[in-house]
Amino acid sequence: MSRVLVLLATRHGHTRRIADFILAQSPVPPECEWHDLLAGVPQPSLPLVAYERILIVASVRYGHFPPALTAFVRQYRAQLATLDVALVGVNLVARKPGKDTPSGNPYLRKLLVTLDWQPARCIAVAGALAMPAYPRWQQLILQLIMRLTGSPVTRATVRDYTDWEALAQWSAGYWQAAMPAR
Ligand SMILES: Cc1cc2nc3c(=O)[nH]c(=O)nc-3n(C[C@H](O)[C@H](O)[C@H](O)COP(=O)(O)O)c2cc1C
Repeated sequence: MSRVLVLLATRHGHTRRIADFILAQSPVPPECEWHDLLAGVPQPSLPLVAYERILIVASVRYGHFPPALTAFVRQYRAQLATLDVALVGVNLVARKPGKDTPSGNPYLRKLLVTLDWQPARCIAVAGALAMPAYPRWQQLILQLIMRLTGSPVTRATVRDYTDWEALAQWSAGYWQAAMPAR
């Protein structure tokens, strides 16, 4: 059984669904140690080399990943360079063609350039909108952003933009492959 360190940032639960989905594609259920990136910089219980994989699944809010993700990478930079680290960035921009790659997705690109970091695997995944769950002012901001980016929504819109088939394919490759050559 493989031991996986999972770092998660979710506010409304969709990113947790994505993390659970990726983990569920593993041929053998992994033993997972979860840390919440919104609660601060994760302090894993074991040295990082004790985990076969490190899976980071984090959503973007107002243009940014959680600061604890940046801090974690800076703290463990040297060790992360030798480990099987996958970064899954969840955001709405990723719903557009070509915006699901590390170079095509503006949030991933900015994060990786800022950190001068290249995780072994990296993908952007389109998230979801559950407008009735958000306060009025957030609804207004999201309505404006979605209108400006060509996908108008209403205060009642509940929509899952995740391409689950594409994610299943990516996950299959993730679990099959050994750590990519670096
Ligand atoms: C208040 C708020 C701000 C958001 N800001 C952005 C953003 O700047 N860019 C983007 O692409 N998506 C943005 N999103 C979309 C989220 O990344 C998407 O809804 C994701 O699925 C949220 O995941 P969660 O349910 O795990 O919190 C925002 C969503 C909310 C609710």
